[in-house]
Amino acid sequence: MSAKDLAQLQSEIIDAAVCPELAASATQLVMGAGNPDADIVLIGEAPGKKEDEQGKPFVGASGRFLDEMLAAAGMNRDDVYITNIVKYRPPNNRDPSREEKAAFWPYLLRQIEIINPNVIITLGRHSGMAFIPDLVISRDHGQPRTVQLHDREYLIIPLYHPAAALYNGGMRQTLIDDFLDAAGIARSSA
Ligand code: URA
Repeated sequence: MSAKDLAQLQSEIIDAAVCPELAASATQLVMGAGNPDADIVLIGEAPGKKEDEQGKPFVGASGRFLDEMLAAAGMNRDDVYITNIVKYRPPNNRDPSREEKAAFWPYLLRQIEIINPNVIITLGRHSGMAFIPDLVISRDHGQPRTVQLHDREYLIIPLYHPAAALYNGGMRQTLIDDFLDAAGIARSSA
């Protein structure tokens, strides 16, 4: 039933006119993609240009590295569900505002509730801090934290943003290692 519930949630976001200015400047809502019954949900910050054009999360350069991370764990996009905190592209790829993140937060929580994953992997400092306010990404990356969301506890594993690997080659292995650990934790808590 998850796919139907996610489609319904998507209609609700559109009907509720969440962030109308972002909606007006974006091409489309980027709800998320992948397996709606996945054990792992990955959450980025907001769609960029390519994502806005194609209506799918992480299809640009950082998405290609995300695919490498998945492949290192023997997975592909059909094994996980990928989404963002904010579901419209902010103009000129600016950071989403606090208000924009807050406006999408209840819908993100419902999205998580529908998918009901074992593990939530946040990608980047901004996404991580939405779940772990005292996050220090250089200290905490790869370390699971238990967080209560709606009526259950979730394991949140904060990772660096895959874009970090594009600018810093040394980061590639850190991200892959953290993702392998996170995949192992998801498997063992299945
Ligand atoms: N960066 C993100 O945080 N999300 C995307 O979907 C693409 C790039």
